[in-house]
Amino acid sequence: MARPGGSPKTVFSCCECGASTAKWQGQCPDCGVWNTLVESIAEAPAVGSQRRFAALGGTAVVHTLSDIEAREEDRLPTGIGEFDRALGGGLVSGGVVLIGGDPGIGKSTLLLQALAALSPVHHVLYVSGEESGQQIAMRARRLALETGKLKLLAEINLEKILAALLTLRPQVAVIDSIQTLWSDQLSSAPGSVAQVRECAAQLTRLAKQSGVTVILVGHVTKEGALAGPRVLEHIVDTVLYFEGDTHSSFRLIRAVKNRYGAVNEIGVFAMTDRGLKGVSNPSAIFLSQHGTDVPGSCVLVTQEGTRPLLVEIQALVDQAHGNPRRLTVGLDAQRLAMLLAVLHRHAGIVCFDQDVFVNAVGGVKIAEPAADLAVLLAIVSSLKNRALPGKLIVFGEVGLAGEVRPAPRGQERLREAAKLGFTRALIPEANQPRQAIAGIEVIAVRRVEEAVGRLRELE
Ligand code: TYD
Ligand code: MG
Repeated sequence: MARPGGSPKTVFSCCECGASTAKWQGQCPDCGVWNTLVESIAEAPAVGSQRRFAALGGTAVVHTLSDIEAREEDRLPTGIGEFDRALGGGLVSGGVVLIGGDPGIGKSTLLLQALAALSPVHHVLYVSGEESGQQIAMRARRLALETGKLKLLAEINLEKILAALLTLRPQVAVIDSIQTLWSDQLSSAPGSVAQVRECAAQLTRLAKQSGVTVILVGHVTKEGALAGPRVLEHIVDTVLYFEGDTHSSFRLIRAVKNRYGAVNEIGVFAMTDRGLKGVSNPSAIFLSQHGTDVPGSCVLVTQEGTRPLLVEIQALVDQAHGNPRRLTVGLDAQRLAMLLAVLHRHAGIVCFDQDVFVNAVGGVKIAEPAADLAVLLAIVSSLKNRALPGKLIVFGEVGLAGEVRPAPRGQERLREAAKLGFTRALIPEANQPRQAIAGIEVIAVRRVEEAVGRLRELE
């Protein structure tokens, strides 16, 4: 692409070692790693920096931490409760939020709803590089949103967007999406690592200088990472991920990084024909509604941020033909392999000639180890083709020595399960509540083999 005269030169620098070359190459000439050279803007040479440094000597002000007034940031709630919960209470002035998620999951819908809710009182701007003004207007009409004062800019050129932000000075600006933007200082195509990184860095700089809150939309690659090898996650203040099965109507929004609040707090929405609606009492939405108890199903109480969620874990164990397969959806595949080894060594249950599939119902992703015991018992139930007793919940981490370790906030999990009508809980002994919880019988175990043994008694 021809570069207009006078614009800065670009270099290619290695993401691994930082070395730079003038031309793109497949392999970094310095560290020898492949595919790490990324285009970036060449910095102006630091002419006479030594001299300037001496002249400036002592001008940088160093503070004592305790002298700096640490006031709480003013939060601007968006008025969409579940979104505010994931943000840690609301948007922060000058903060940069990145929202990632699969295409079609509802990012544009949520942000249009949020800006519309803010627009009567606050000055907001929606920058769209993906959809035309007409498409957005049609969506707003379909969602019956009050958009009288919502400003819209359909633009993909970074320099023009920056100029617009500086003249309009909105309180909140949405950039949908960061992958469509391009800066004319770089010759790479929009969506390339270099462009995404440069555009995000420039927008972040503007946010910090002007106090505009910037919300960036980012698409996720097939592997589940935000395009641009996580570069964006380092630049921004808050990273939220949209999760959920596009076939079900529920959507989770989860904070994975938040400089202004807790992480792993989630917001739960349902996608309706009127856009995303918050689900304020989500604990039971990930239970599938079987009429009767079926083999291979076990209900886990997981803790997401400050809220317990009940999630059905399903396992299918079936005779393997050839290499046995291990497949997980919403759970860690490495951990499944470890759990199968523990099951073999400590409870004497073998699966090496079986395919094992494990699924967390509803497209929810579970990262906490407290899911281990539920996964194990679902596998045992499927292998033996016997349903677990009805109204049973399970949680607890499993160690390599076969021990069952406690999960954080055990009491809260038990209370939530009791509230939803579960009557029995198979949990780590260390989580046994000192005072009985009304309506729920606790079966406390210390080891995996004990847990499997207690199941037989319960049948
Ligand atoms: P969208 O916000 O465009 O997704 P993203 O910006 O993350 O790519 O969401 C589009 C999907 O949401 C689309 O498949 C249709 C669905 N949808 C509804 O079900 N109801 C609605 O009111 C809207 C606006 C969208
Ligand atoms: Mg979109």
